[in-house]
Amino acid sequence: MAAVGDLAFTAEDRVLLTGASSGLGQAAAVLLNRLGATVIGVGRDVDRLAATKALCPHPERFFPERCDLTENLDDLSSQVAVWRKSHGKLAGLLHAAGIVTVLPAALQGAAEMRELFDINVFAAYQLARGFLDRRNNRGEGSAIVFVASLAALCESSGTTAYAASKGAVVSLARSLACEYARQKIRVNSVSPGLVPTPMTQRQYANLDALAQTYPLGPGRPEDIAAAAAFLLSPAARWITGQNLVVDGGRSVA
Ligand SMILES: NC(=O)c1ccc[n+]([C@@H]2O[C@H](COP(=O)([O-])OP(=O)(O)OC[C@H]3O[C@@H](n4cnc5c(N)ncnc54)[C@H](OP(=O)(O)O)[C@@H]3O)[C@@H](O)[C@H]2O)c1
Repeated sequence: MAAVGDLAFTAEDRVLLTGASSGLGQAAAVLLNRLGATVIGVGRDVDRLAATKALCPHPERFFPERCDLTENLDDLSSQVAVWRKSHGKLAGLLHAAGIVTVLPAALQGAAEMRELFDINVFAAYQLARGFLDRRNNRGEGSAIVFVASLAALCESSGTTAYAASKGAVVSLARSLACEYARQKIRVNSVSPGLVPTPMTQRQYANLDALAQTYPLGPGRPEDIAAAAAFLLSPAARWITGQNLVVDGGRSVA
């Protein structure tokens, strides 16, 4: 494990990272790999996972794992033990896999909401439960980061169901942080503003114009990756139960 106050990781710091095949998760995988961590990168698309590995400066410390996280939610916490057996005890969990739908509430019923909650919330919870099993983590200093969203905190017309799912993620982090502080395991969330990624390019026709409205200018996946890496690192050893907003000043402007 790296020293207190250090943003660097060692190869023994294994981070289970979902959403590693695209967007924010891919940027976080590459950054954590560059900072010295071993990344177990989960995604559904093997070609995109291979592309992430190719972007890593130390590809020998990136292990792709193909998995649809919503296929068998009941057993997802046990799947963490399978990954631990293959790769060793985990020091970090970053849940960056997720989906968004931009539609008026009138067009999003219970089925659409369930689909959002499955990957954004239930998968986060089940992965965290697996990670928090003492047999699967490295104990003191281990950390979890969930990717939530600014939508959980600000007005978000067209993303009511999504905002509710991300609000749940912020609450998950806070409550788990409380429950596991005695074991010195930290749990935080990161709430990004709108960042151009394959997801937002699919969902927002006016993405470029929206990105320009941020006071600090358009954000990049690397901006979110940096916040997540910080919260996973020993530099954040005294931070838990927090939701770090990374939004180019949008929510304070
Ligand atoms: N981009 C933004 O502006 C923004 C803002 C706030 C919050 N966020 C949050 O950040 C996270 C990442 O978003 P992004 O913009 O990076 O999106 P993205 O580019 O579409 O990436 C989404 C990732 O989630 C994975 N994924 C989705 N469903 C999955 C499932 N059932 N099983 C396993 N993996 C699954 C995808 O895997 P495959 O590639 O294999 O399909 C992909 O790696 C999401 O939680 C999103 O809500 C994004």
